Amino acid sequence: MKTRVLTGITTSGTPHLGNYVGAIRPAVAASRRSDVDAFYFMADYHALIKSNDPARIERSRLEIAATWLATGLDPKQVTFYRQSDIPELPELTWILTCITAKGQLNRAHAYKAAVDRNVANAEDADVGISAGLYMYPVLMAADILAFNADKVPVGRDQIQHIEMARDIAQRFNHIYGGAFFVLPEAQVEDQVAMLPGLDGRKMSKSYNNVIPLFAGGAKQLRAGIMGLVTDSRMPGEPKEPESTSLVTLYQAFSTFDETVAFAQALREGMSWGQAKQQLFERIETEVAPMRDRYEALMAHPVEMEDMLQQGAKKARLIATPLLESLREAVGLRSIAFPGAASQRVAAKKGKREVPRLISFRDDDGHFRFRLLAADGEELLLSVPLIDPKRAGQWQKRFATLGAAAGDLIVEGYGASFSVQGKRVASTPVQADAVARDAMLHRLRTTLDLLASYHVRQTNAADG
Ligand code: TRP
Repeated sequence: MKTRVLTGITTSGTPHLGNYVGAIRPAVAASRRSDVDAFYFMADYHALIKSNDPARIERSRLEIAATWLATGLDPKQVTFYRQSDIPELPELTWILTCITAKGQLNRAHAYKAAVDRNVANAEDADVGISAGLYMYPVLMAADILAFNADKVPVGRDQIQHIEMARDIAQRFNHIYGGAFFVLPEAQVEDQVAMLPGLDGRKMSKSYNNVIPLFAGGAKQLRAGIMGLVTDSRMPGEPKEPESTSLVTLYQAFSTFDETVAFAQALREGMSWGQAKQQLFERIETEVAPMRDRYEALMAHPVEMEDMLQQGAKKARLIATPLLESLREAVGLRSIAFPGAASQRVAAKKGKREVPRLISFRDDDGHFRFRLLAADGEELLLSVPLIDPKRAGQWQKRFATLGAAAGDLIVEGYGASFSVQGKRVASTPVQADAVARDAMLHRLRTTLDLLASYHVRQTNAADG
């Protein structure tokens, strides 16, 4: 079973080496593993919290999309999308907001730091703090929980947010009495989680100490590296490798032995200029081919837009049925069809009944399957199939896509379900049109519920 790995990158800046080493590179590597189901997205709603400059947001979304693709992300293999293309995310944010303790948000590092700054400046505590900054962790929890991610690769500064997402998920599961959400775990790369910047502090846009990954080309990369802060020891003088960020940067692009040799050369008096040149060449070897791809992508924004739309579609195949079942759980249900509520009652009676697909062989030896609602009502019966594999494929399609697996076609007082024009299953025939429509509603809800359970089971099995 695959582990679902999800991470977002805020589209408020230009990707720098720190983003690449700390987040993008490990994420792209992880996405290639056969045991990983990767969801990577551009957190452009989060970007609005940080910046009210439309041109900057637009530019950054473009640069970041091109960066992930240029660094090797394959949109066929992973689900790659923009947060703002998924309407389920703000919807889920609200649902989660209503069960999140305000006190917990008061304790979020980023918000607290902003308040502390105000207080230290003898200002009103809330000066310049938007409600968006305050709600940041809930939006982030929605990003993660909408896809029931198991693992969330992040930098250390984000660990608290993942813990809050876990907490919110737990609270929701508890209040509404079900395993709606997987509890996500933060994944921090220990080796080089934090790349130092020009001044030795963590490379971060907010410290203004970054070296851009692609922007400005090789020239800018070299200029950045030449600008790294060092002490004033002269060529030939022994140097403390730990006194600068050069070695840490070097290590991020080299093997252990190469790094040891680099540090040793410094101890033996290699000049800072030489060391920086070596460092530049080392990084450039890795970056140059990606930069070529980046430039090609930046020249074709229409193709990238298309790719992102496809990604959003793929992502919503998961988020839409999940939100459907969450709306149902919190009581935002259709008032026209009380049948849907009875299903929930059955599910709540402690029996933990869930919708099921059941395969069997009929009297003629053909393979078939049925869909049963949580209360045991039969809602679909498949056509007879000679090939059991085929039957398995169709069941899998139902279990992963829910009602989006195909089209319901009304036939008299019943209906058939077809996939790509092929009739796959039919519903029982009801007494009249009203009963039929109520049954079709139960069918759709049941299929979506089935898909949302499937998502959880897939994840739960990975543990
Ligand atoms: N807050 C993250 C950052 O600034 C970006 C982000 C938004 C994110 N939503 C997420 C990361 C969900 C992981 C999962 O780095």
